[in-house]
Order: sequence, then C-alpha cells, then structure tokens
Amino acid sequence: MTFIIAIDGPAAAGKGTLSRRIAGDYGFHHLDTGLTYRATAKALLDAGLPLDDEALAARMAANLDLSGLDRDVLSRHEIGEAASKVAVMSPVRRALVEAQRAFSRRDPGTVLDGRDIGTVVCPDAPVKLYVTAAPEVRARRRFDEIVGRGGEADFDAIFRDVQIRDARDAGRADSPLRPADDAHLLDTSEMGIEAAFQAARSIIDRVLDR
Ligand code: DC
Repeated sequence: MTFIIAIDGPAAAGKGTLSRRIAGDYGFHHLDTGLTYRATAKALLDAGLPLDDEALAARMAANLDLSGLDRDVLSRHEIGEAASKVAVMSPVRRALVEAQRAFSRRDPGTVLDGRDIGTVVCPDAPVKLYVTAAPEVRARRRFDEIVGRGGEADFDAIFRDVQIRDARDAGRADSPLRPADDAHLLDTSEMGIEAAFQAARSIIDRVLDR
C-alpha cells in the first residue's frame, strides 16, 4: 500500500523545503498542492477571465495537468494572491482535491503539502505533520528569500501580507487551515531546515518501524 505523508501549515513556515527534502530522502513522489491552486488562478489570469466565477474556475481546476506545474513561474506574488481567492471556492476545491487524492496513491509513497492534506485530502495518512512558525519569522524568511534573489522587498508589507493570508486560509468556511487532531506539531520558529528534517524523520521512521 502507498505510504502517504501529509504536511500542512501556514504560508512560509518551511513546509515546502521540508517536504521536498523528505520526498527526496525516502524516494517518494511530492506534490505541493498550493501549486494546483496557483495554476488554476494563473490559467484564469492568462485567459483574461474573471477570478470570481466559480463555475469557470472549477472547469479550469478540473482540466489541470499536474505534470506541468512550474514552481518558478507559479511562485509569483500576484499569482499567490489570486490563488487564495479561488481557494475559497468549494467547486474548485472538489476538483483539485480529487486530482490530489489520485496523486497521493502513487507507489511507493507520496508527500503532499498544503493546508488541508491531513484534515480533508488524505485523512487516513499514517504520518501527518503540521509545520508552523511565528508570523514575524515567516515574514522574515520570505523577505530574506526575495532579497537573496536580488529583489527588493518591504518587510512591513510582507508581514501584513502573511497575516492577511493566514486569516483568509484559516477563516474560510470550506477546509480551513488547521492541524488534524492526530498531526505532529513542528514549530520551526527557532529551528533550521536540518533540525526540522531530523525531527520529521524520527516521526516518520517510528511509523515505518525503521
Ligand atoms: O502554499 P501556497 O502559498 O502556494 O498556496 C496558495 C494558496 O492556495 C493559499 O492561499 C492557500 C491555498 N491552498 C489551499 O487552500 N489548500 C491547499 N491544500 C494548498 C493551498
């Protein structure tokens, strides 16, 4: 049976880096489910279509090809903003969750990261991690990332953005961001990626009985 690792948490908590590292280490397939919401939003933007038409957005979501998700293109700020708007639409979520579940069954195992993996997409996953960090720490990481790439950034604006995004993700009616009851909490506020990875690995290995 496929081994599924569900990783949830707010934006910029480090779950993407951690998920890729875990998938690489265990030889599992990885899906950043945020990219599926981003790609749906981008498809609408590219076609010059409105972001507030649920039926249209759901059709875009249902036609999405998971093999063509380009993280570099999709990580753009305005696409993230648009994604958080389509992510509140139940018909969009239904279509994307179906595609995410199909992905989760790939052998020998999968790592899915997002907001509702442990609660909605894969509630039976044997390992669930909820990765979080203080909002200022997450804003600082995003700031450093942009500046590190040679870009310009305004810390206060990023910090405000993180808080708005958190409120929208946690406050929506359908599949709000929250830890599953059986999730292991990993607060990375004072933890580097290596320490977070080691903590995750000991949880996973206990379940795999290694
Ligand atoms: O993690 P991210 O910034 O790429 O996510 C983009 C948006 O999609 C964000 O507003 C949260 C939403 N999302 C979601 O609702 N459910 C998921 N499983 C993943 C992301």
